[in-house]
Amino acid sequence: MDVVTALDRLPKVELHCHVEGTMRPGTVVELAGKNGVELRTSDPTELYRYSNLDTFLEIFWLVQSTLGSREDWARLAYESIVDGAAHGLVYRETFFTPARHLDAGQDLADIVAGLAEGLAAAEGETGVRAMLIADIDRAYGAAAGLAMVKRLVELREGASPGAERVIGVGLDSTELGVDPTDFAEAFELAGKVGLRRTSHQGEETPPSHIWAGLDVLGSERIDHGLSSLQDPELTRRLAGERIPLTVCPNSNVVIANAVPRLELHPYRRMREAGLLATLNTDDPALTDLDLGREYQSCMEAFGYRWEDMVAIALDGVEATWLDESDKRELRARVEREAAKLAAELDPPR
Ligand code: ADE
Ligand code: ZN
Repeated sequence: MDVVTALDRLPKVELHCHVEGTMRPGTVVELAGKNGVELRTSDPTELYRYSNLDTFLEIFWLVQSTLGSREDWARLAYESIVDGAAHGLVYRETFFTPARHLDAGQDLADIVAGLAEGLAAAEGETGVRAMLIADIDRAYGAAAGLAMVKRLVELREGASPGAERVIGVGLDSTELGVDPTDFAEAFELAGKVGLRRTSHQGEETPPSHIWAGLDVLGSERIDHGLSSLQDPELTRRLAGERIPLTVCPNSNVVIANAVPRLELHPYRRMREAGLLATLNTDDPALTDLDLGREYQSCMEAFGYRWEDMVAIALDGVEATWLDESDKRELRARVEREAAKLAAELDPPR
């Protein structure tokens, strides 16, 4: 077996993937037609060209706007997991960002129920487990973020269908010009009711935003964290406390345009500095990517060996919000299947 195939089959977790960014192009076209969204093209991939995060977000928002009902969310979640399973995904903590849908009058209860229904159907078919992280969209401001968390708390307290799948909250969308501390109240409420917390920081912003994510918002993980190495004290903190970074190297090249080529991405240096830097795709269907190719391209770009890639997959397990016994079980599965794949590799490892 060649290493490309082996990496595709290696059991992998993913902690930084936006469910809307996994929408198949064919689904984008069908849902746009169904819900009256103008696309200007029958091949949405023609639209997928970006020069920075904000130009990417315009397309991301267009794709998001095709989701009009509970059944659309269910279809999206189902297809997302089926597509991930084809490339070795075994567990995902998936973002969804419902700000514009809530603003347009959709109910969070329907969105969560739809997503959970799709995830459950895909789990039954593929064996891949998936949970949800409700992201606040920075572009909609602090009041909308707090309102979303309050509604989420209501859904949990009322045992609304699917609410148990939402294990945490996050923060995404545009970074530049937005003060992360604006969202302190929403994050404080989330923490109080036992929701886990993560936030996109340092994709286009300096280490000060990562510090704010940790110390003001109480984030337990940092999504991207690309600028971490610019601050030695921050690097020591992240490494010392094993605070996971959900890094998306290909996205940082294609979406944020923060590094010109994958070979120039600091990922390897981040790991060498002791950071718990996991590998993730971010928005795979919008960037022509899958988790197998994220691993393969990084192995090549950073000169990693098979053993290094297995260690990265295991760090992914450590960085999940699974309980300790589930982590142990998943870790054992990755180790067992990695050993089997290694024995089949040509040349053998
Ligand atoms: N939403 C979807 N992808 C994103 C990214 N890379 N950064 C911020 N918000 C996003
Ligand atoms: Zn992201």
